[in-house]
Amino acid sequence: MGLGAYLTMFSTRARLDAQPNKLTEVLAHRRATGSRLIDLTASNPTTCGLDYPNREIGEALASGARSSYQPEPLGIAAAREAVAAHLRSRGESVDLCDVMITASTSEAYGYLFKLLADPGDAVATARPAYPLLEHLAASESLELVQFPLVRDVRWQVDLHELERVLEPRTRAIALVHPNNPTGSYLTRNELLAVAELCAARGIALVSDEVFHDYPLEAPDGRAPSAVECDLPCLTFSLGGLSKSAGMPHLKLGWLRVGGPERLRREALRGLEAIADDYLSVATPVQIALPRLLEIGASVRDQIVSRCRLNLRALRASLTAERSIEVLPVEGGWSAVVRVPCLTSDEELAVALVEYFGVVVHPGYFFDFDRDGHIVVSLLTPPDDLLEGARPIVELVSALAAP
Ligand SMILES: Cc1ncc(COP(=O)(O)O)c(C=O)c1O
Repeated sequence: MGLGAYLTMFSTRARLDAQPNKLTEVLAHRRATGSRLIDLTASNPTTCGLDYPNREIGEALASGARSSYQPEPLGIAAAREAVAAHLRSRGESVDLCDVMITASTSEAYGYLFKLLADPGDAVATARPAYPLLEHLAASESLELVQFPLVRDVRWQVDLHELERVLEPRTRAIALVHPNNPTGSYLTRNELLAVAELCAARGIALVSDEVFHDYPLEAPDGRAPSAVECDLPCLTFSLGGLSKSAGMPHLKLGWLRVGGPERLRREALRGLEAIADDYLSVATPVQIALPRLLEIGASVRDQIVSRCRLNLRALRASLTAERSIEVLPVEGGWSAVVRVPCLTSDEELAVALVEYFGVVVHPGYFFDFDRDGHIVVSLLTPPDDLLEGARPIVELVSALAAP
């Protein structure tokens, strides 16, 4: 079979033509030669040296595993109630009828895109952003249109630009609250302004709140969830065990629907029909969910403490070089580090790997508007963070030297 036949056999959504970038190549080379890496992008909580209550997790799943199969597209009632109770514990007033269980937040996005848009339609989202949405949108044959978050005292939605990029084929606005990697929460007023644009166009607002439980330096603590703000449009807030309980391996997420009653009911009817084709969430994890959310509090507390400690340590260590700034992190697991634009972000990240074995995310990975940003995961084991921060100071100082 010729190469042409291979290329036409698969859809463009399989992304088989994706090429590795320079950083990926350098990293692969270093791994292949067995050289040590100090990974400041570690974001898998199960491999970051946290203390997991594995016995209790095992017992909760084992009791769920004894149950018969309960095929419920929106999730079994006990699991929906467990999510409602979890959200109530953070001050939300929620009914289980407005909650749906999914296998992950990514899957929830996929269901929402199927619910709200047809192939060829568009979804609007802010940048800088974690590069997940463009892939999820492309998988549904949707286009992602972006508008900027602008940083003055804090990162904020550029409402003017948002309004400008909206087209008749835009079917939803998706915002991450707090955003990854800028850590910025949306204020109630920002949510309201975006919701008014949605309501005027008859489109939905999707609020990804996976990091909502991690306020770090937010001036007024945690901003409210979008569905708690009485918004005039159909609204979805997304969350899941992967961040709220540090348990990505258990594959359980959720969404909560808000907004006008009639739209809420129709949306849930559509979601039920879509999820009925997959029935992807395992029964045992749903049965175990009330207990997992209870146990997850200890993992969440460890992550909050680690992120706060690491953020202070990172700031103390990096600001030894005066041209480096660690931007305020209102919430989440990432810190944005401003470095002088002496080279491109990619060249800086590649040099850190090649000369020091230190791995950071270059800003372009998140679509920052310009060079001068690297991103560090606050989940990194603290010793690695300190060890990896020194070479950043060294390299930037050397580059900045006259
Ligand atoms: C902002 C954001 N949303 C969603 C996800 C995916 O979450 P899940 O593991 O529940 O699919 C991630 C993963 O890191 C993320 O950063």
